[in-house]
Amino acid sequence: MQFEVKAKYDVIIVGSGISGLICAIELSKAGKAVCLLSKEAITEGSSIYAQGGIAIPLDSSDSVEKHLEDTLKAGAGLSNIEVAKEIISSSNSSYEKLISYGVKFDTSTGSKPHLTKEAAHSYARVCHAGGDATGRFVIKTLIDRVCRDPNISIAQGTMVISILKDNAGAACGVLVEDITKDKFAMFADDVIVASGGAGQLFELTTNPKVSTGDGIVMAHRIGACLQDVEMIQFHPTVLIEENKDPLLITEAIRGEGARLRNTKGDYFAHNYHKDGELAPRDILARAILNEIKKTDSKFVYLDVSNFTEDYFKSRFPTIYEACLERKIDLFNLGIPVAPAAHYFIGGIQCEVTGKTNVSNLWAVGECASSGFHGANRLASNSLLECIVVPHILAREIVKRNERAVEAGFKPAGTKPAPNQESKLENCISLNIDDSSFDENEIKCQVKELQKRNLISLGLLRNEKTIINHLKYLETLSEKYKVEKLSSNSQAQEFKNMIYLSVLISKAAWLRKESLGVHYREDFPGIAMDKKHSIFALDDSLTYKSESTENPLVKAS
Ligand code: FAD
Ligand code: SIN
Repeated sequence: MQFEVKAKYDVIIVGSGISGLICAIELSKAGKAVCLLSKEAITEGSSIYAQGGIAIPLDSSDSVEKHLEDTLKAGAGLSNIEVAKEIISSSNSSYEKLISYGVKFDTSTGSKPHLTKEAAHSYARVCHAGGDATGRFVIKTLIDRVCRDPNISIAQGTMVISILKDNAGAACGVLVEDITKDKFAMFADDVIVASGGAGQLFELTTNPKVSTGDGIVMAHRIGACLQDVEMIQFHPTVLIEENKDPLLITEAIRGEGARLRNTKGDYFAHNYHKDGELAPRDILARAILNEIKKTDSKFVYLDVSNFTEDYFKSRFPTIYEACLERKIDLFNLGIPVAPAAHYFIGGIQCEVTGKTNVSNLWAVGECASSGFHGANRLASNSLLECIVVPHILAREIVKRNERAVEAGFKPAGTKPAPNQESKLENCISLNIDDSSFDENEIKCQVKELQKRNLISLGLLRNEKTIINHLKYLETLSEKYKVEKLSSNSQAQEFKNMIYLSVLISKAAWLRKESLGVHYREDFPGIAMDKKHSIFALDDSLTYKSESTENPLVKAS
């Protein structure tokens, strides 16, 4: 099929979450013409729903070293120490940047930020905004800024179907479908994938509908290596009710003293880990699942009776209002909670700069995998990564261009400005599956896939279930010609979900050990050698050991 090339930019950013927005702002400051794309409204992504906050060692008695130690411990020995050090060391300046953009964090005394504790942190270091509405407050400020920036073009409701590469194999643009169903190509010197996670692969998830792993799959399709895709973090405490979207119940509530009680009335968390309710997420999530099974129930209760209603209402307003609306008996019974898929730890393998193995292709935010989170992400370290790495990435693109100019190449930014789009005359030709799809059939198939993924790739995994799942996925892949791109965006999204489910299943099957969030019932022993799993384009899976020379690296 032929597609018109409608525009050319310096940089195209796929995704308008916190990581994509900060990339856009920083690249614009460096004089780049940026196009920011989002599948739905610019606001929609995981970022806006972030509750607990951002982990930053802001208190004078806290330190980068202590934060690093907690990050590495939670990461169960799979974290990349240099990456973690660089991100945490830069956290203070990125926090100041957010404040200079206009983000107002909650304060305690005077102008000091109120810092709360979350699981596996040895210190209260999570800053937040709007009580439990950190994501909403940060996103709003950033969107206000990009909307007023003449260097940034925004295309909402525009789904990227594929990343394009040139004859030399470098990323050079994207193929999109816009809100009117028009399909066209856009070119750029650099493509940044900031497309978030893939929680929608699972029946129960905290993630919004857009989180289907598209960017991760698109990057892999053009040759980017993927790392640790089997590492999927479940959040322990999510309010799940029939016919309602699951609602995350922030860990900060446990950080401030709430306790977990099973439906028989027993407080159980300390039976599983010395830190009880503040044990690392993977351990607590499995403990809750065990209690749910033991009591033949669907949930356990989060007992919040340690709070007064007035305090709870002002500290956690989003959750308070939602519980009121859902008629939850907050201060008597507590909040019914269960684990749900929450965070994609693996993703597009990259350096701390976001650089991938494909020239001019960058990855940032939840879709990226630099090794920061190891095998289990420390609470509130995701937003930290999202606010720090875009600065490093933007500097790297600028530096690379300067080096190119010094070496005598033409400076970047000499392309037609976006408002001169009509002067671009090129068309590109792509091999695309244009068969029609029944929308209702795809919806049913998506539901079935989500259900089966939860059973086979959830908190507890074993060989028999995964192998059966792979057989089902093979049939699905053949039926829907997953290897081919589709001209129908809904079908393409579904194909992406199948594609990524296959990779997760293979990696989960072949990692015959337990490590962090990956728990094999048939191999419960913790892995001795901490290895990243890496998928190359040909789907071959190799392993790369993480250096564990640092004495801080001890699995919790
Ligand atoms: P997102 O914010 O998810 O944005 C992804 C963007 O990519 C969206 O704009 C989407 O439209 C776009 N996109 C996707 N596919 C395509 C496509 N094919 N074409 C075009 N655009 C596309 N982390 C913390 O550190 N602290 C917290 O308190 C916290 N709370 C959380 C609460 C909830 C309910 C959830 C779901 C997550 C929470 N997390 C938290 C995790 C954190 O919010 C996310 O990891 C982070 O916001 C991801 O940001 P991002 O920029 O990578 O992607
Ligand atoms: C939460 O507020 O519990 C979510 C924090 C996170 O996912 O880091």
